Formats: sequence, C-alpha cells, structure tokens
Amino acid sequence: MKRFQDQVALVTGGGQGIGAATVRRFAQEGAQVVVADLNGERAQAVAAEVGSEAFAITCDVGEESGVEAMVAGALERFGAIDILVSNAGVTRDNLLHKMSLAEWDQVLQVHTRGAFLCSRAVARNMVSRQHGKMVFLSSTSALGNRGQANYATAKAGLQGLTRTLALELGKFQINVNSVAPGFVDTAMTRAVAERLHVPLEEFLRDAASRIPLGRLGQPEDIASVIAFLCSEDAAYVSGQVLYVNGGRPS
Ligand code: CAA
Ligand code: NAI
Repeated sequence: MKRFQDQVALVTGGGQGIGAATVRRFAQEGAQVVVADLNGERAQAVAAEVGSEAFAITCDVGEESGVEAMVAGALERFGAIDILVSNAGVTRDNLLHKMSLAEWDQVLQVHTRGAFLCSRAVARNMVSRQHGKMVFLSSTSALGNRGQANYATAKAGLQGLTRTLALELGKFQINVNSVAPGFVDTAMTRAVAERLHVPLEEFLRDAASRIPLGRLGQPEDIASVIAFLCSEDAAYVSGQVLYVNGGRPS
C-alpha cells in the first residue's frame, strides 16, 4: 500500500517549484492532492499532469475569503483534508533604507498571514477528525539574510507559529512542523541572478560552491522531507524546524 493512500493533501503555491514537486510526490505516493495557487493556469497544469487525483484551485492565501473558499472547495471535492503544506511564497528583497512599506507588507501578507489563514481554516476539519499533519515552509533566511528584513522576519515568524500550533493542536493528534530549506534551484532563486544582472550559470555555480554537499538543492530534495514529516514515520515529530540545506549552517 502506498504511503499516502486514501489521504488528501492541500499544497499552497503548488503551481511551480517546491510546491509542484510536493504535489507530484504526494500523488506518486497515493494521495489525492489539492493544488492551490495564485496563478490558476500553473495550478491547472500541475493538476492535469498528475491526473484525476488532483484538483486545482486559484487562491490568494493572504485573503481570508479566498482561503475559506479554497478549503470549502477542497472539502466539497474530497471530503477531508489530512495534510496541509503551507508553501506559497514571494520575495521583495531590499536593504532596510530602501524597503517600502508595500514590500514589507506583501511578504508578511503571503507568508505569515497566509500560513495563519490556511492553518486556521484547515484545522477545523483536522480537529473534528482528530488527525492531521501541517508543514510550513520556513527558510535558512530566518537566521538572517542581507536584503531580506521582510522575508527573514516572516520565515522566523513561521517557526513561532509552528511551535505554537504544535502545542495547541497536539491533543487533537495533529503534527505541526516546518521545513527550512537553504538555496533551492527554482524561479524564486533564479530571479535573484536576473535582478543582480549576474549571468545565471555563474550565479548558480557560485551558490553551489558555498554548499558543503557541493550542489544546489532541488525542489525534490525538499518535497521528500515534507513527505517524511507528513508520514507515519514522523508520527512523534511535532513542533520542529528541519533545516534542509546541504550542510550549510545558514
Ligand atoms: N542607510 C543609508 N545607506 C545605506 C544603508 C542605510 N541603512 N544601508 C546600506 N546603505 C548603502 C550602502 O552603503 C551602499 O552604498 P554604496 O553603493 O555607496 O556603497 C548602498 O546603500 C547599497 O549598496 P548595495 O549595492 O549593497 O545594495 P543594493 O541595494 O544594490 O542591493 C541587496 C542589496 C538587496 C541585498 C541585493 O544585493 C540582493 O538582492 N541580494 C540578494 C539577496 C538574497 O540573498 N536574496 C535571497 C533570495 S532567494 C530566497 O529568499 C529563498 C530562500 O529562502 C533562501
Ligand atoms: P516559487 O516562486 O517557484 O513558487 C512559489 C509559488 O507560490 C508560485 O507558484 C506562486 O504563484 C505562488 N504564490 C505566490 N503568492 C501566492 C499567494 N498569495 N497565494 C497563493 N499562491 C501564491 O518559489 P519556491 O522557490 O518554490 O518556494 C516555495 C516556498 O519555499 C516559499 O515559501 C519560499 O519562501 C520557500 N523557500 C524557498 C527557497 C528556495 O531557495 N527556493 C528556500 C527556502 C524557502
């Protein structure tokens, strides 16, 4: 029997990158998957690739009514939600003196407000069923990263949310953990090369040279750890932040 047979996973930001790899991983291991993304076309494409066990929903995780509708839609289609992967994210990097309030708010809106709204909405179903797994995407940037006052604050905030929800939801048999990746090769990180006007190959080579394992993280490297945390192998793991960074301390 497959590891996630008869389970329903909701992955936000599932339209590309780490989210899409996570959707594929859950589907390969037998789950029915809700692919939620602000970009509906990309969510549709990932769901179509996976097949009839996946369902795409267009949703802005920072908007309360949209998140409530997403969860209602998922429940209508599949009847339950066993797994939430709160993965949707954006960056708006800038040094403090140049960072606008809009850049600060956009990042906090998607990561922290989004994770709060999604976990609150999904928890109702999980609590009533006394069963569930939640994983939030934090980052090594939570430890501090130049140009990311907004993002580092948001990703550190998710670690506090993780520990607090683990305390509150443990008695309902709900495990809550974070994965904190280092540099993973996705559109989000590739956009930095473009912004800094550095040739992509040079940028990727330089990033890889600073990672002890000698290569960049791939979305699948993160998806497999998310799947572990949502599996019965991690039944006694809750309130933890698991760094997945190829051995780089920060
Ligand atoms: N007040 C006044 N001046 C200041 C100042 C302050 N508080 N702080 C700095 N300055 C000055 C500096 O002295 C410098 O002046 P000079 O040019 O005269 O030396 C100037 O402001 C800015 O200099 P920079 O060229 O260093 O800064 P920049 O604005 O061009 O860019 C940066 C800085 C935003 C950090 C940019 O280098 C950048 O975007 N770097 C990448 C950030 C990054 O790592 N992002 C990760 C994205 S991937 C991801 O996030 C995934 C994940 O989870 C890991
Ligand atoms: P990505 O940019 O490739 O994909 C992010 C997805 O989130 C996109 O499909 C986008 O449309 C969606 N999204 C953005 N705002 C949304 C919103 N308001 N509502 C719903 N969906 C929204 O990013 P990547 O690299 O796959 O990152 C995924 C998560 O992992 C993010 O939370 C990111 O901060 C985190 N992370 C990424 C790292 C990396 O090196 N790529 C490292 C550490 C953490």
